[in-house]
Amino acid sequence: MKKSTLVNHPPAVPVPADNRPVVAPIHQTVKFEFETVDETLRSLRGDRPGFFYLRSSNPTLRQLELTLAQLQGREDCVVCASGVGAIAQTLLSLTRSGDHVLCFIETYGPTRQLIRRTLAKFGVTHTMLSIEDLSGIERVLASRPTRLIIFESPTNPVNKIADLAAITRLARTHGALTVLDNTFAGVHQHGQYEIDIYLHSLTKFVSGHGDVMGGAAIGNANMIRTLRPDFTLLGGVLDPHAAFLMQRGLKTYFVRYREQCASAQRIAEYLSTHPAVERTHYPGLLGAAANALARAQMTEFGAVVSFDLRSGAAGGRCFAERLNLFSMAASLGATESLVMPPQMLGSHDSNDELQAISGIAPGTVRLSIGLEDIDDLLEDLEQALQAAEDLS
Ligand SMILES: Cc1ncc(COP(=O)(O)O)c(C=O)c1O
Repeated sequence: MKKSTLVNHPPAVPVPADNRPVVAPIHQTVKFEFETVDETLRSLRGDRPGFFYLRSSNPTLRQLELTLAQLQGREDCVVCASGVGAIAQTLLSLTRSGDHVLCFIETYGPTRQLIRRTLAKFGVTHTMLSIEDLSGIERVLASRPTRLIIFESPTNPVNKIADLAAITRLARTHGALTVLDNTFAGVHQHGQYEIDIYLHSLTKFVSGHGDVMGGAAIGNANMIRTLRPDFTLLGGVLDPHAAFLMQRGLKTYFVRYREQCASAQRIAEYLSTHPAVERTHYPGLLGAAANALARAQMTEFGAVVSFDLRSGAAGGRCFAERLNLFSMAASLGATESLVMPPQMLGSHDSNDELQAISGIAPGTVRLSIGLEDIDDLLEDLEQALQAAEDLS
């Protein structure tokens, strides 16, 4: 074998079947082969287990899918390259021209844009309501056939809580599918509700370290069987190395999530009595509008704390720029704390009326709480709040 051949066919190093690696290896390969055409064809027909091409599957991706499905309490999962990819591919897979979907003002901006821009191009219509308008949801479902309801809980950025029991009951009654973007709540919560598809941005709590991007759709086996061919065709495939990092992130998921929630709770309580703060939005806060529903539905309330500054947009800008330990950046759920000032929160596609329903006030600030020491975070918040208060 010449050297140029050798480097393309390196020596095999078989690992004995009784000598497993403790950490699962990354299968960083696009292609898999069998010895014969017949076995290849049998595998492609699904008559035997096996892998063929990364866009369809890969053992590292599959391991992540199986783990996520179990965490969410469902039979199966399909992963892809980003949270938005999971939302887009699910919507494109489940809808066709003439369908109607129900969505909400208090929903992640790109989800609303996908419905308004992309689905509209293919003749899918929508109705947009407030997630708190249960009678509106019932009225719309009763008045026209609706393919699916897509929603979030807690919502981004002001942590409204969707009534999951009521929404799933209404959807069942009227034959609509329920698609819940469960990113804020995490992959371990809300499994007790009759949700058809859970969507996740794995970029957030699952990866947990802010260095890798991914998305997932989780549901029963039939539902994922419906989605998977479209996910494969639409092509937003997760890289095996990213899947490996997600799997690694999951090992510390519960420790991180609980610690971040405990700090978020402390910070929400601190903010709720601070003179510079008009209103704090955190589901774990006793007396918060969403608290009773959140306690019935969740065991932890997430790492996002939002609040309205009395000093408005100017105060929000000053506060965010004064913080030392909070990076002024998008995303949430990672180990480092982040801040989004009001100027970075307003949705680009909404008018004043929609903005009011969204709960985003001129002085709304969103924090994502990381794993820094809670006393350091509180000290940093205090000095930045003082600066914002001096403005008013
Ligand atoms: C609720 C929610 N869903 C989906 C996404 C999109 O995820 P990704 O950034 O992985 O595409 C985000 C991102 O911020 C989000 O907050």
